[in-house]
Amino acid sequence: MSNLQLTSHGELKHFLTPEGLDRLMLERILDTADSFVVVGNQEVKKVPLLRGRTVVNLFFENSTRTRSTFELAAKRLSADVLTLDIKTSATSKGESLLDTLRNLRSMHSDMFIVRHSDSGAAHFIAEQVTPDVAIINAGDGRHAHPTQAMLDMLTIRRHKGNFEPLSVAIVGDILHSRVARDQIHALKTLGCSDIRLVGPNTLMPNSIDSMGVSTHTDMDEGIKGVDVVIMLRLQTERMASAFLPSAGEYFRLYGLTTERLKVAKANAIVMHPGPINRGIEIESAVADGPQSMILNQVSYGIAIRMAVMSMAMSGQMQQRQALVAQPTNTEAQV
Ligand code: NCD
Repeated sequence: MSNLQLTSHGELKHFLTPEGLDRLMLERILDTADSFVVVGNQEVKKVPLLRGRTVVNLFFENSTRTRSTFELAAKRLSADVLTLDIKTSATSKGESLLDTLRNLRSMHSDMFIVRHSDSGAAHFIAEQVTPDVAIINAGDGRHAHPTQAMLDMLTIRRHKGNFEPLSVAIVGDILHSRVARDQIHALKTLGCSDIRLVGPNTLMPNSIDSMGVSTHTDMDEGIKGVDVVIMLRLQTERMASAFLPSAGEYFRLYGLTTERLKVAKANAIVMHPGPINRGIEIESAVADGPQSMILNQVSYGIAIRMAVMSMAMSGQMQQRQALVAQPTNTEAQV
């Protein structure tokens, strides 16, 4: 997986998952994003890094935050941006994904931002369909959501500093969450050693212990003394059958309330990728409270997306130039 994301010189050319990327690369993404946070505070919120490049937002699954922050990020990098509404596009007339992509490629697109309900969709496109177009995974099935995981890492680093001494609890529907999976990979690579997964057994993947995390069915035990509490939404759209007795029972056992948050460190931060379900996984007083980072996460999402888009574009450019410079077989034989 990692080789597919990197050029022969080790630069990022696609961003599909943090899995397999080393600490240096993840830190470079965070450092680059840090430098873009200020762009959002400027009066003119633009830098020319992607000027003349065409970015296509391809969302085959619903999204509000991710889609709009990708679009804003591309615009702040001065790219030409096309956001395809799949519901009104030819894909809904039966055109295959491959044909849609080939047509978009013919329009000289440089980058596709892909969200798809099938795990592995972005990887497949990067490998098989358009290797010369930078592919950024905006969430594929239950598999990966790398820019969400990295914006979460940026939030943690900016508010808590180094990852090594931190205790981080991820609470809720781990089983169906592409976010949790990538958060674990990123946290581990960045040096965090106390990662706790909290939730009912029915929402905990079977082989999760092999990822070097601890699991807890008791919420108070799981969040005791932690620096960061990451809450997850119940992904009911991915549940084939009933995994829980009721939403009320879930909130009683795993909902984050002001009272329960006292078990974590006094200065702990609370995060959630959104969309939040008030009264199901999180109490309003916590979501809107002083420890909540939920809206900061959305702002940092723009900076992270600007970072990975500019890094992947520069990797793709380097690779294209290297290919042009290489003699073809026939030329070499002459
Ligand atoms: C997440 C997603 O789509 O996986 N949300 C997001 O990208 N903002 C998590 C979720 O849907 O619960």
